[in-house]
This record gives sequence, C-alpha cells and structure tokens, in this order.
Amino acid sequence: METLTTSIMLVILLVPILTSQAPQQSSEMKRCSRAFLTISSLWRPHSYSSRTGTETELELNWETNCNPEYIDSVALFTEYPRNKGATPLLQVPTKQYPGYFRTNYTFGDTLLPGGWQLVDDEEDSGNADSEKKSSEEWESESGKSAESKNHNEGKIEVRRENYGEKASQEPINGDHCFPFWIAAYANKTIVYTDCLKIRPTWIWDHRSELGDMSLRSLLIPGTHNSGCYKRVTGLSNQNSRRNSFSSRFLLTQDLDIYTQLVYGIRYLDIRVGYYPSTPELFWVNHDVARLLPLQLVLEGVKQFLRRSPDPILLDLHRFPVGFSDRRRGRRKQHSRASPAHRLLVELLWNELGEFTPADASVPINTLWKSGRRLLISYADKASREEFPWLRGEMNLTNGKASGRLWNKSPSVTVTQEWGNVQNSSQLYDFLSKTIDKRKKLWGWSGNGELWSSMAELTPTPMDVVFSRPGTGLRQMAHDVNRNVTRWFRDLWWQDANIVATDFFRGANLIDVAVESNLRRSHV
Ligand SMILES: *[C@@H]1O[C@H](CO)[C@@H](O)[C@H](O)[C@H]1NC(C)=O
Ligand SMILES: *[C@@H]1O[C@H](CO)[C@@H](O)[C@H](O)[C@H]1NC(C)=O
Ligand SMILES: *[C@@H]1O[C@H](CO)[C@@H](O)[C@H](O)[C@H]1NC(C)=O
Ligand SMILES: *[C@@H]1O[C@H](CO)[C@@H](O)[C@H](O)[C@H]1NC(C)=O
Ligand SMILES: *[C@@H]1O[C@H](CO)[C@@H](O)[C@H](O)[C@H]1NC(C)=O
Repeated sequence: METLTTSIMLVILLVPILTSQAPQQSSEMKRCSRAFLTISSLWRPHSYSSRTGTETELELNWETNCNPEYIDSVALFTEYPRNKGATPLLQVPTKQYPGYFRTNYTFGDTLLPGGWQLVDDEEDSGNADSEKKSSEEWESESGKSAESKNHNEGKIEVRRENYGEKASQEPINGDHCFPFWIAAYANKTIVYTDCLKIRPTWIWDHRSELGDMSLRSLLIPGTHNSGCYKRVTGLSNQNSRRNSFSSRFLLTQDLDIYTQLVYGIRYLDIRVGYYPSTPELFWVNHDVARLLPLQLVLEGVKQFLRRSPDPILLDLHRFPVGFSDRRRGRRKQHSRASPAHRLLVELLWNELGEFTPADASVPINTLWKSGRRLLISYADKASREEFPWLRGEMNLTNGKASGRLWNKSPSVTVTQEWGNVQNSSQLYDFLSKTIDKRKKLWGWSGNGELWSSMAELTPTPMDVVFSRPGTGLRQMAHDVNRNVTRWFRDLWWQDANIVATDFFRGANLIDVAVESNLRRSHV
C-alpha cells in the first residue's frame, strides 16, 4: 500500500519535472550554465588554538566563462531543486564570488546511497573508530525519502533514495545522488541542476560507448597515495589527529579505498612497506611513514569488485621500506625478485587472483568476457619477470588455463608523470609540457602506454620543517583541485589517460572523466 502511494507520488512529482525541462534553452546556454558541487579538502579549526575543527564543507561551483549573465545566483538544496516546495539552504549571488563558494554546511559521514553503503559486519573492524554521529543524524533526519534525478540532461531516470532504511539491499547499478543539490538561476529561473553523486558502475553503465575502448584510451580518475587516509598509526587522540603535523603532511585522502571506488575512482596509487616484525607484514606507506595495513586496501578492492562490474587499476608503485635485497648490488643484472616481493606477490595472488590479470590494451568488453578486470601494475621489474601474471599473462592455478590470454603484448605498467611542483602555475606548466611530449610520441593517447598525470602539489622539505598551522596537503589540494578540474575538462579531455589527485572530492574529475570519455567515443 505504502509503495503504491509513493509510486503515485513519484509520478505526480515527475510530471512537472519533465515538462519544466525548459525547452527555450540553447545548447550553448546549457554549456555555459554549468554548476556542480564539490567537498572541500580543508580542515578549519574552530578557533586559532582549537584542536577541533570543521571539514568536508560543501562547495558551490559554477562556470560563467562564455556569458556571466547566464547564471546570476546558485543555491544549495537537500532535494531535487525543481521539486514542488523545495527551498534552498542557501542562495549566493554569483557576481560577488570567483566561480565558487564554500558553504558552512558539512557533508559529514553521509551514508552511500543506492545500497552501496557497507553494513557494519561487512566493514573492516579496523575502521570501527570512525565517528558515526553524523550518519545517525542523517538517518533520523531523513526518514522521508529523497527524490533524485539523473543529472544527465535528456536521460530522465529517477532514483528514489531512502536514507531511512537500513542499507542492507543489493547495490543498484548506475549513478546515485547524495541528498545535496546545486541549482543555477538566471532571472529567478532554474537553468541547471546537479547533485553530489556516486558513480559506482560508470564504465559498465556506458558500455555501449566505452566497451570498445581500452583502459589506456580512457580518461581515468584516480587518487594519489590512495591508502593515505584517516587512520594513522600511533595517533590515537582523535581531536589532535586532524590537524597534527603528521595528518597535515601524510594524509592525501579522506575516504577508504572501497568508498573511493564507489564514488567512481578507478586508479589507486599505493606504496608498500615491508615490516617483518609486525603481524601485518605489509603496510601502506607515505615515503618512510607507515600508515595502515595493506590488507585494508586489498579488502576494499575486493569488496568493490564483488559489487561493481567496472574494471580498476591497482598501481603498486613504490616499495620504500623493507624490499631491497641485501645482496642486490652483486646481482643487479639478472636480478630475481627479493623475498619480500615474492611474499607480496603471493599475497596479491591469494587475495585478488580471481579478478586479475587484466590488460590495458584490449577492449574493455574483452575484460568483461574473461572476468579479468583488475589490472595490477607492479613496479618491480624482477618480480614481473618472475611472475607471468604480473606481466598480464594468465596462469590460473586450477589448471584450466595457462600461458597468454591476450593477443598483443600486454600493457600492464603505469608510468607516473610527477612534477614535484609547489604552485598551480608550475603544475600547469609541467602538465601541459607532459601532454605535449606524449602527444608527439604517441599521437592521441589511445596509442600510448598507461600513464598518470600526478595532478597535485608536493611540499618541499622546508615547507614540512617550517610548517605553520594551516599549511599542508589539504591546503595544497584546495589550491589546485579547481584548476585541475578545469584543465582536464576544457583543455586536455582528449589527451590524458589517468589523472591522480589528492582529496579528490574537491575536484570534479569523475564527472569530467565520464563526460570526456563519452566525447572521445564519438571522435
Ligand atoms: C554559516 O554561514 C552563514 C552565512 O553564509 C552565516 O550567517 C551563519 O552564521 C554561518 N553558520 C555557522 C554555524 O557558522
Ligand atoms: C534576463 O532578463 C533580462 C531583462 O528582463 C533580459 O534582458 C535577459 O535576456 C534575461 N536573461 C536570460 C538568460 O533570460
Ligand atoms: C603459475 O603461478 C604460480 C604462482 O604464481 C607459480 O608457482 C607457477 O610456477 C606458475 N606456473 C606457470 C606454468 O607459469
Ligand atoms: C610558483 O613558484 C615559482 C618557483 O618557486 C615562482 O617563480 C612563481 O612566482 C610561483 N608562482 C606563483 C603564482 O606563486
Ligand atoms: C588556479 O585557479 C585560481 C583561482 O581558483 C587562479 O587564481 C589561478 O590563476 C589558477 N592558476 C592557474 C595556473 O591557472
């Protein structure tokens, strides 16, 4: 009975939505009136010496490049803005601000919509210390269902997200909106809306366009130092950890691996340390600092791959601690994998072998046919020589298949283009030179190898040593994420392969990637 009423309600609500899709807008105007939400990377102390602070503030973004008149204000909503009676939390005149406005509404720990939130027993027990307060607040506050509409113009596909229910159902494919929306106004009329969303199956959703493309011909949103989030060893004091020295210079992300992937991230950059005296053995490192057990990363990857059909790339890019063989110097030429590498490769195979190896040079349709959609890029040559599957060659232990699966020479390692730069103009110079160089070498990116634009700033040792409160990686991400979004959307949408950022929710690169890939598929 209740479901019937809600369906009727839905239809009633939908009719005005469909009919109010203003037909008078030209396509040029749609392009101009672009608006989107991001989540700030900044941590703001409540007062100068305060140990507590605010983070994950929602940011309103808009573009008025072609004609500033087209958007005169933007507003934040907690439901679809065209719903009858929807009232904004806040409305901002665009003239006074430079294309974005940081609100003081926080995203907090809002649950993942569409059945993608892991229920507690699925979550890693190691994460149990994360604050649950705001999710509970959300649950009690939003017993009513939120209506959400697919952000894609034209495709009308409404998803009803019910935040009140325990999220125990099967995850639903497709994009899902969080209950946060932006509306852009011209002359008091809404001309554009978008929601903050997850895109957990975006490659699969667009398989008719993207299935014939390969991983190296896609624009792939990624994270830099993907495993460097929240849980920092030895920082048990919850209040101090957000703003402590180590948080400010070691943490590059604020979401766990599974959640990053659910948002739409498809490339993970991991550096591994080997600590034989710890029970976990392998840890995610930021340089020589040990941050969290590698097992949590592997679990996150597995949890995602079990729910989503999308292919992903896991780049074990550096091994800063514990991997070098003492005898290395002697046998540099015909080196064999060190014992630590062998242990790690075995662990990877045991944990993720069912999904790997994938090859970046074949159509994604082929990856789906073979069931091999996890590409592990392993940055140790000796190990790749010793273990055929790290070169993309199949070797199923059940004996059914062995030898090469892929026709061509597999493409399985990622080159990172990292500028070691400290401000946005240097980053621009570095990235544009890199893209020119690669275009000259390989033409359009589809013919190249897998490579990643490392689109973040790097502090100098002096920055770290003489750090002041308010500096650090969060601030640096804040300084460039908006520029990075614009560059890859408007200038390099056709040329880049992987783009890895810090605090990725401050950039809009997942949307940019989906949009660019659809454009590429039509080129
Ligand atoms: C949030 O910002 C508005 C202005 O945009 C201000 O009026 C309000 O007091 C702020 N609220 C808090 C809790 O800081
Ligand atoms: C807004 O209104 C003004 C004057 O009423 C008009 O000149 C202008 O074209 C309108 N803009 C849009 C985008 O409709
Ligand atoms: C297959 O892989 C396993 C584990 O990686 C290895 O021990 C074995 O020698 C491999 N077999 C072949 C035929 O490559
Ligand atoms: C960026 O850094 C370079 C090198 O330190 C410096 O020359 C340049 O002025 C800086 N640009 C900005 C906008 O701060
Ligand atoms: C980056 O964006 C800021 C404004 O958000 C702008 O002032 C700055 O010039 C941009 N940097 C580059 C190199 O475009």
